[in-house]
Amino acid sequence: MRSVFALLAVVSLFASGCGLFDDGNAVRVYTGRHYDLEQAFEQFTAETGIDVEFLSGDDAELRERIAAEGEDTTADIYMTVDAGNLWKAAEDGLLARLNSPTLNEAVPAGLRDSEGRWYGLAMRARTVMYNPQRVQESAFDAEDTYAQLAEPEWRGRLCMRNSTSPYTQSLVAGLIAAHGERRATEIVRGWVDNDVAIFENDIQILENIDAGRCDVGLTNHYYLARLLVDQPDLSVTPFWASQDGRGVHVNISGAGVLADADNPAKAQRLIEWLATTGQRSFVEGNHEFPTNPKVTPEPVIAGFGEFDYEPINAEAYGQLNARAVTLMNEVGYR
Ligand SMILES: [Fe+2]
Repeated sequence: MRSVFALLAVVSLFASGCGLFDDGNAVRVYTGRHYDLEQAFEQFTAETGIDVEFLSGDDAELRERIAAEGEDTTADIYMTVDAGNLWKAAEDGLLARLNSPTLNEAVPAGLRDSEGRWYGLAMRARTVMYNPQRVQESAFDAEDTYAQLAEPEWRGRLCMRNSTSPYTQSLVAGLIAAHGERRATEIVRGWVDNDVAIFENDIQILENIDAGRCDVGLTNHYYLARLLVDQPDLSVTPFWASQDGRGVHVNISGAGVLADADNPAKAQRLIEWLATTGQRSFVEGNHEFPTNPKVTPEPVIAGFGEFDYEPINAEAYGQLNARAVTLMNEVGYR
């Protein structure tokens, strides 16, 4: 029932918010992003004369919708906020293999599919956020900070994201890939035993840390950047997790051209533009890290300092997704 309602919500948004997909010239994007994308798309249109129409929704729901629509799909591009969903779309045969020297040069090998079916266009770090008035930076274990949050010292002090978020699911899938299922279960159970408070979005987590209602949380870095623009005195500081160990858990927002796209050439052109000429506009609209190494991060996130990150494992995020969801269910992480 819940998924039917969600799909209806997507359909009505499609009809009312974005206009019907009836212009033969437009590139059509099904996107899991819900940020200020319009700016980059509008700039692409201004430079190329190609219109971009987009439909926003949940990564997994849009992927299922593309599969259900089959060759009748109205979309040309599938764009997600998570590598696991791109991996699954490729696995399900929904994405075309691109032959693009431009993309292969712009996007490092670790941030794209080896068969050219999807490309990372922006990188996001999911790391520890803390209230510096309540926690000393030296309190954190630099070896494995995610696992440390399962220790009793953090009881009643944690704020984290709900289990239905792809951000949480890929984080836990990454834990399974890194530590094995048994240890990953211990870690997530430890968070639950610490009476973790669960929130439906990352902004709420940061606001609760700032207010002192929790001391430590896990969020994507760009939400902090977004809040700092308007509230520079916010009492939240990022800590780059696990710098003496596996590094920060990162994920990508990326895209691929659909195997059944009506406008595959224009769709490829848009993805190539987002990775090159439009890369700065695309990532800066949401304070994300560029995947194109020729583009530098904007000042707010550059101010967070450099960090090492664990290589993105799209296959693990995708393949271990169901196990991650089951694991969270079993230990009562909601
Ligand atoms: Fe997000």
